[in-house]
Amino acid sequence: MWSSKWQTCRQLFVTGIMMASLAAAAPQISMSAPTNSAVASQVSTRPATASAAPTGAIDMVNPSQPPPKDKVMRFGMVLFPGYEPLDVMGPLQILFRLSMSHPATLSVIASKAGPISALPNDPYVVGKAIAAPQMVATHSFADAPDLDVLLVPGGWGIFNNLENNDTSIEDFVKARYPKLQYLLSVCTGATSLARAGVLDGKKATTNKMAWKEVTEQGPAVNWVASARWVEDGNIWTSSGVAAGIDMAYAFFKKVFGTEKLNRVMDAMEYAPHTDPSYDPFAVLFKVPGANETAGDNCAIPLGML
Ligand SMILES: *[C@@H]1O[C@H](CO)[C@@H](O)[C@H](O)[C@H]1NC(C)=O
Ligand SMILES: *[C@@H]1O[C@H](CO)[C@@H](O)[C@H](O)[C@H]1NC(C)=O
Repeated sequence: MWSSKWQTCRQLFVTGIMMASLAAAAPQISMSAPTNSAVASQVSTRPATASAAPTGAIDMVNPSQPPPKDKVMRFGMVLFPGYEPLDVMGPLQILFRLSMSHPATLSVIASKAGPISALPNDPYVVGKAIAAPQMVATHSFADAPDLDVLLVPGGWGIFNNLENNDTSIEDFVKARYPKLQYLLSVCTGATSLARAGVLDGKKATTNKMAWKEVTEQGPAVNWVASARWVEDGNIWTSSGVAAGIDMAYAFFKKVFGTEKLNRVMDAMEYAPHTDPSYDPFAVLFKVPGANETAGDNCAIPLGML
């Protein structure tokens, strides 16, 4: 089954290259008056110097509206000791580049401002050589500014917070959720959303390796066994670590559309999975109820589609 899937992907990829090379030749026909698509076909993802102001009402939630170029998205990222680096940096890589076209601010929020290590507060790591990166929190939970979007990453530290009865992330999520436009989690970050109660009665997913440990923290949540990510209302939850990049792509696509976003992804040289039911890891980790067909495995560059 996997090999026949790959044949199909390969066929799509080859067809995509042929179509892309045809499209690349087209602008030469009208050199004197470059079209928008000719401009868009340049390699750079730097913001265009003069972009037309959007007309009509701006609605961040409605993807059929023009992207809200003049509205600043206030993005918050939660941090804690023992966060998973890619849970944080995957979505932020996209946000960083995309914000050059769609303005956004970033607040990095933890128990207190300052450097936060990916090294968890866990006796297991004491005396070991562990290559843990640090990030700087710009705000504490107490002084974080108003936000439109909040993302809670996962990581080893989630379980240390549980053991230590540290509910600071849950308290923050519970307090802020009513005023957020969107709430997102990556990987085991869904633990904090579940414990905050905001996932009760909603569909959600999490890391498949930590499935049991996370899902038992949310008995009233409709956990989806096979999903790269799940969108329910204004809450988005992704599967483990790298799945956060795919969820971030789908999320930003919904909010801002694909015009700039696909260039950002192509410049990253990352081909996102665009099928939320793609989940071979639920099968690998024998998650109860996992769908053996695993969804569409065709991830090819967006510029080829
Ligand atoms: C956490 O709370 C439980 C239940 O109240 C208690 O048994 C445990 O000792 C607490 N752990 C810490 C580290 O405070
Ligand atoms: C399993 O996944 C496939 C492919 O995504 C889908 O067509 C099928 O309906 C799924 N089955 C169940 C029981 O959800």
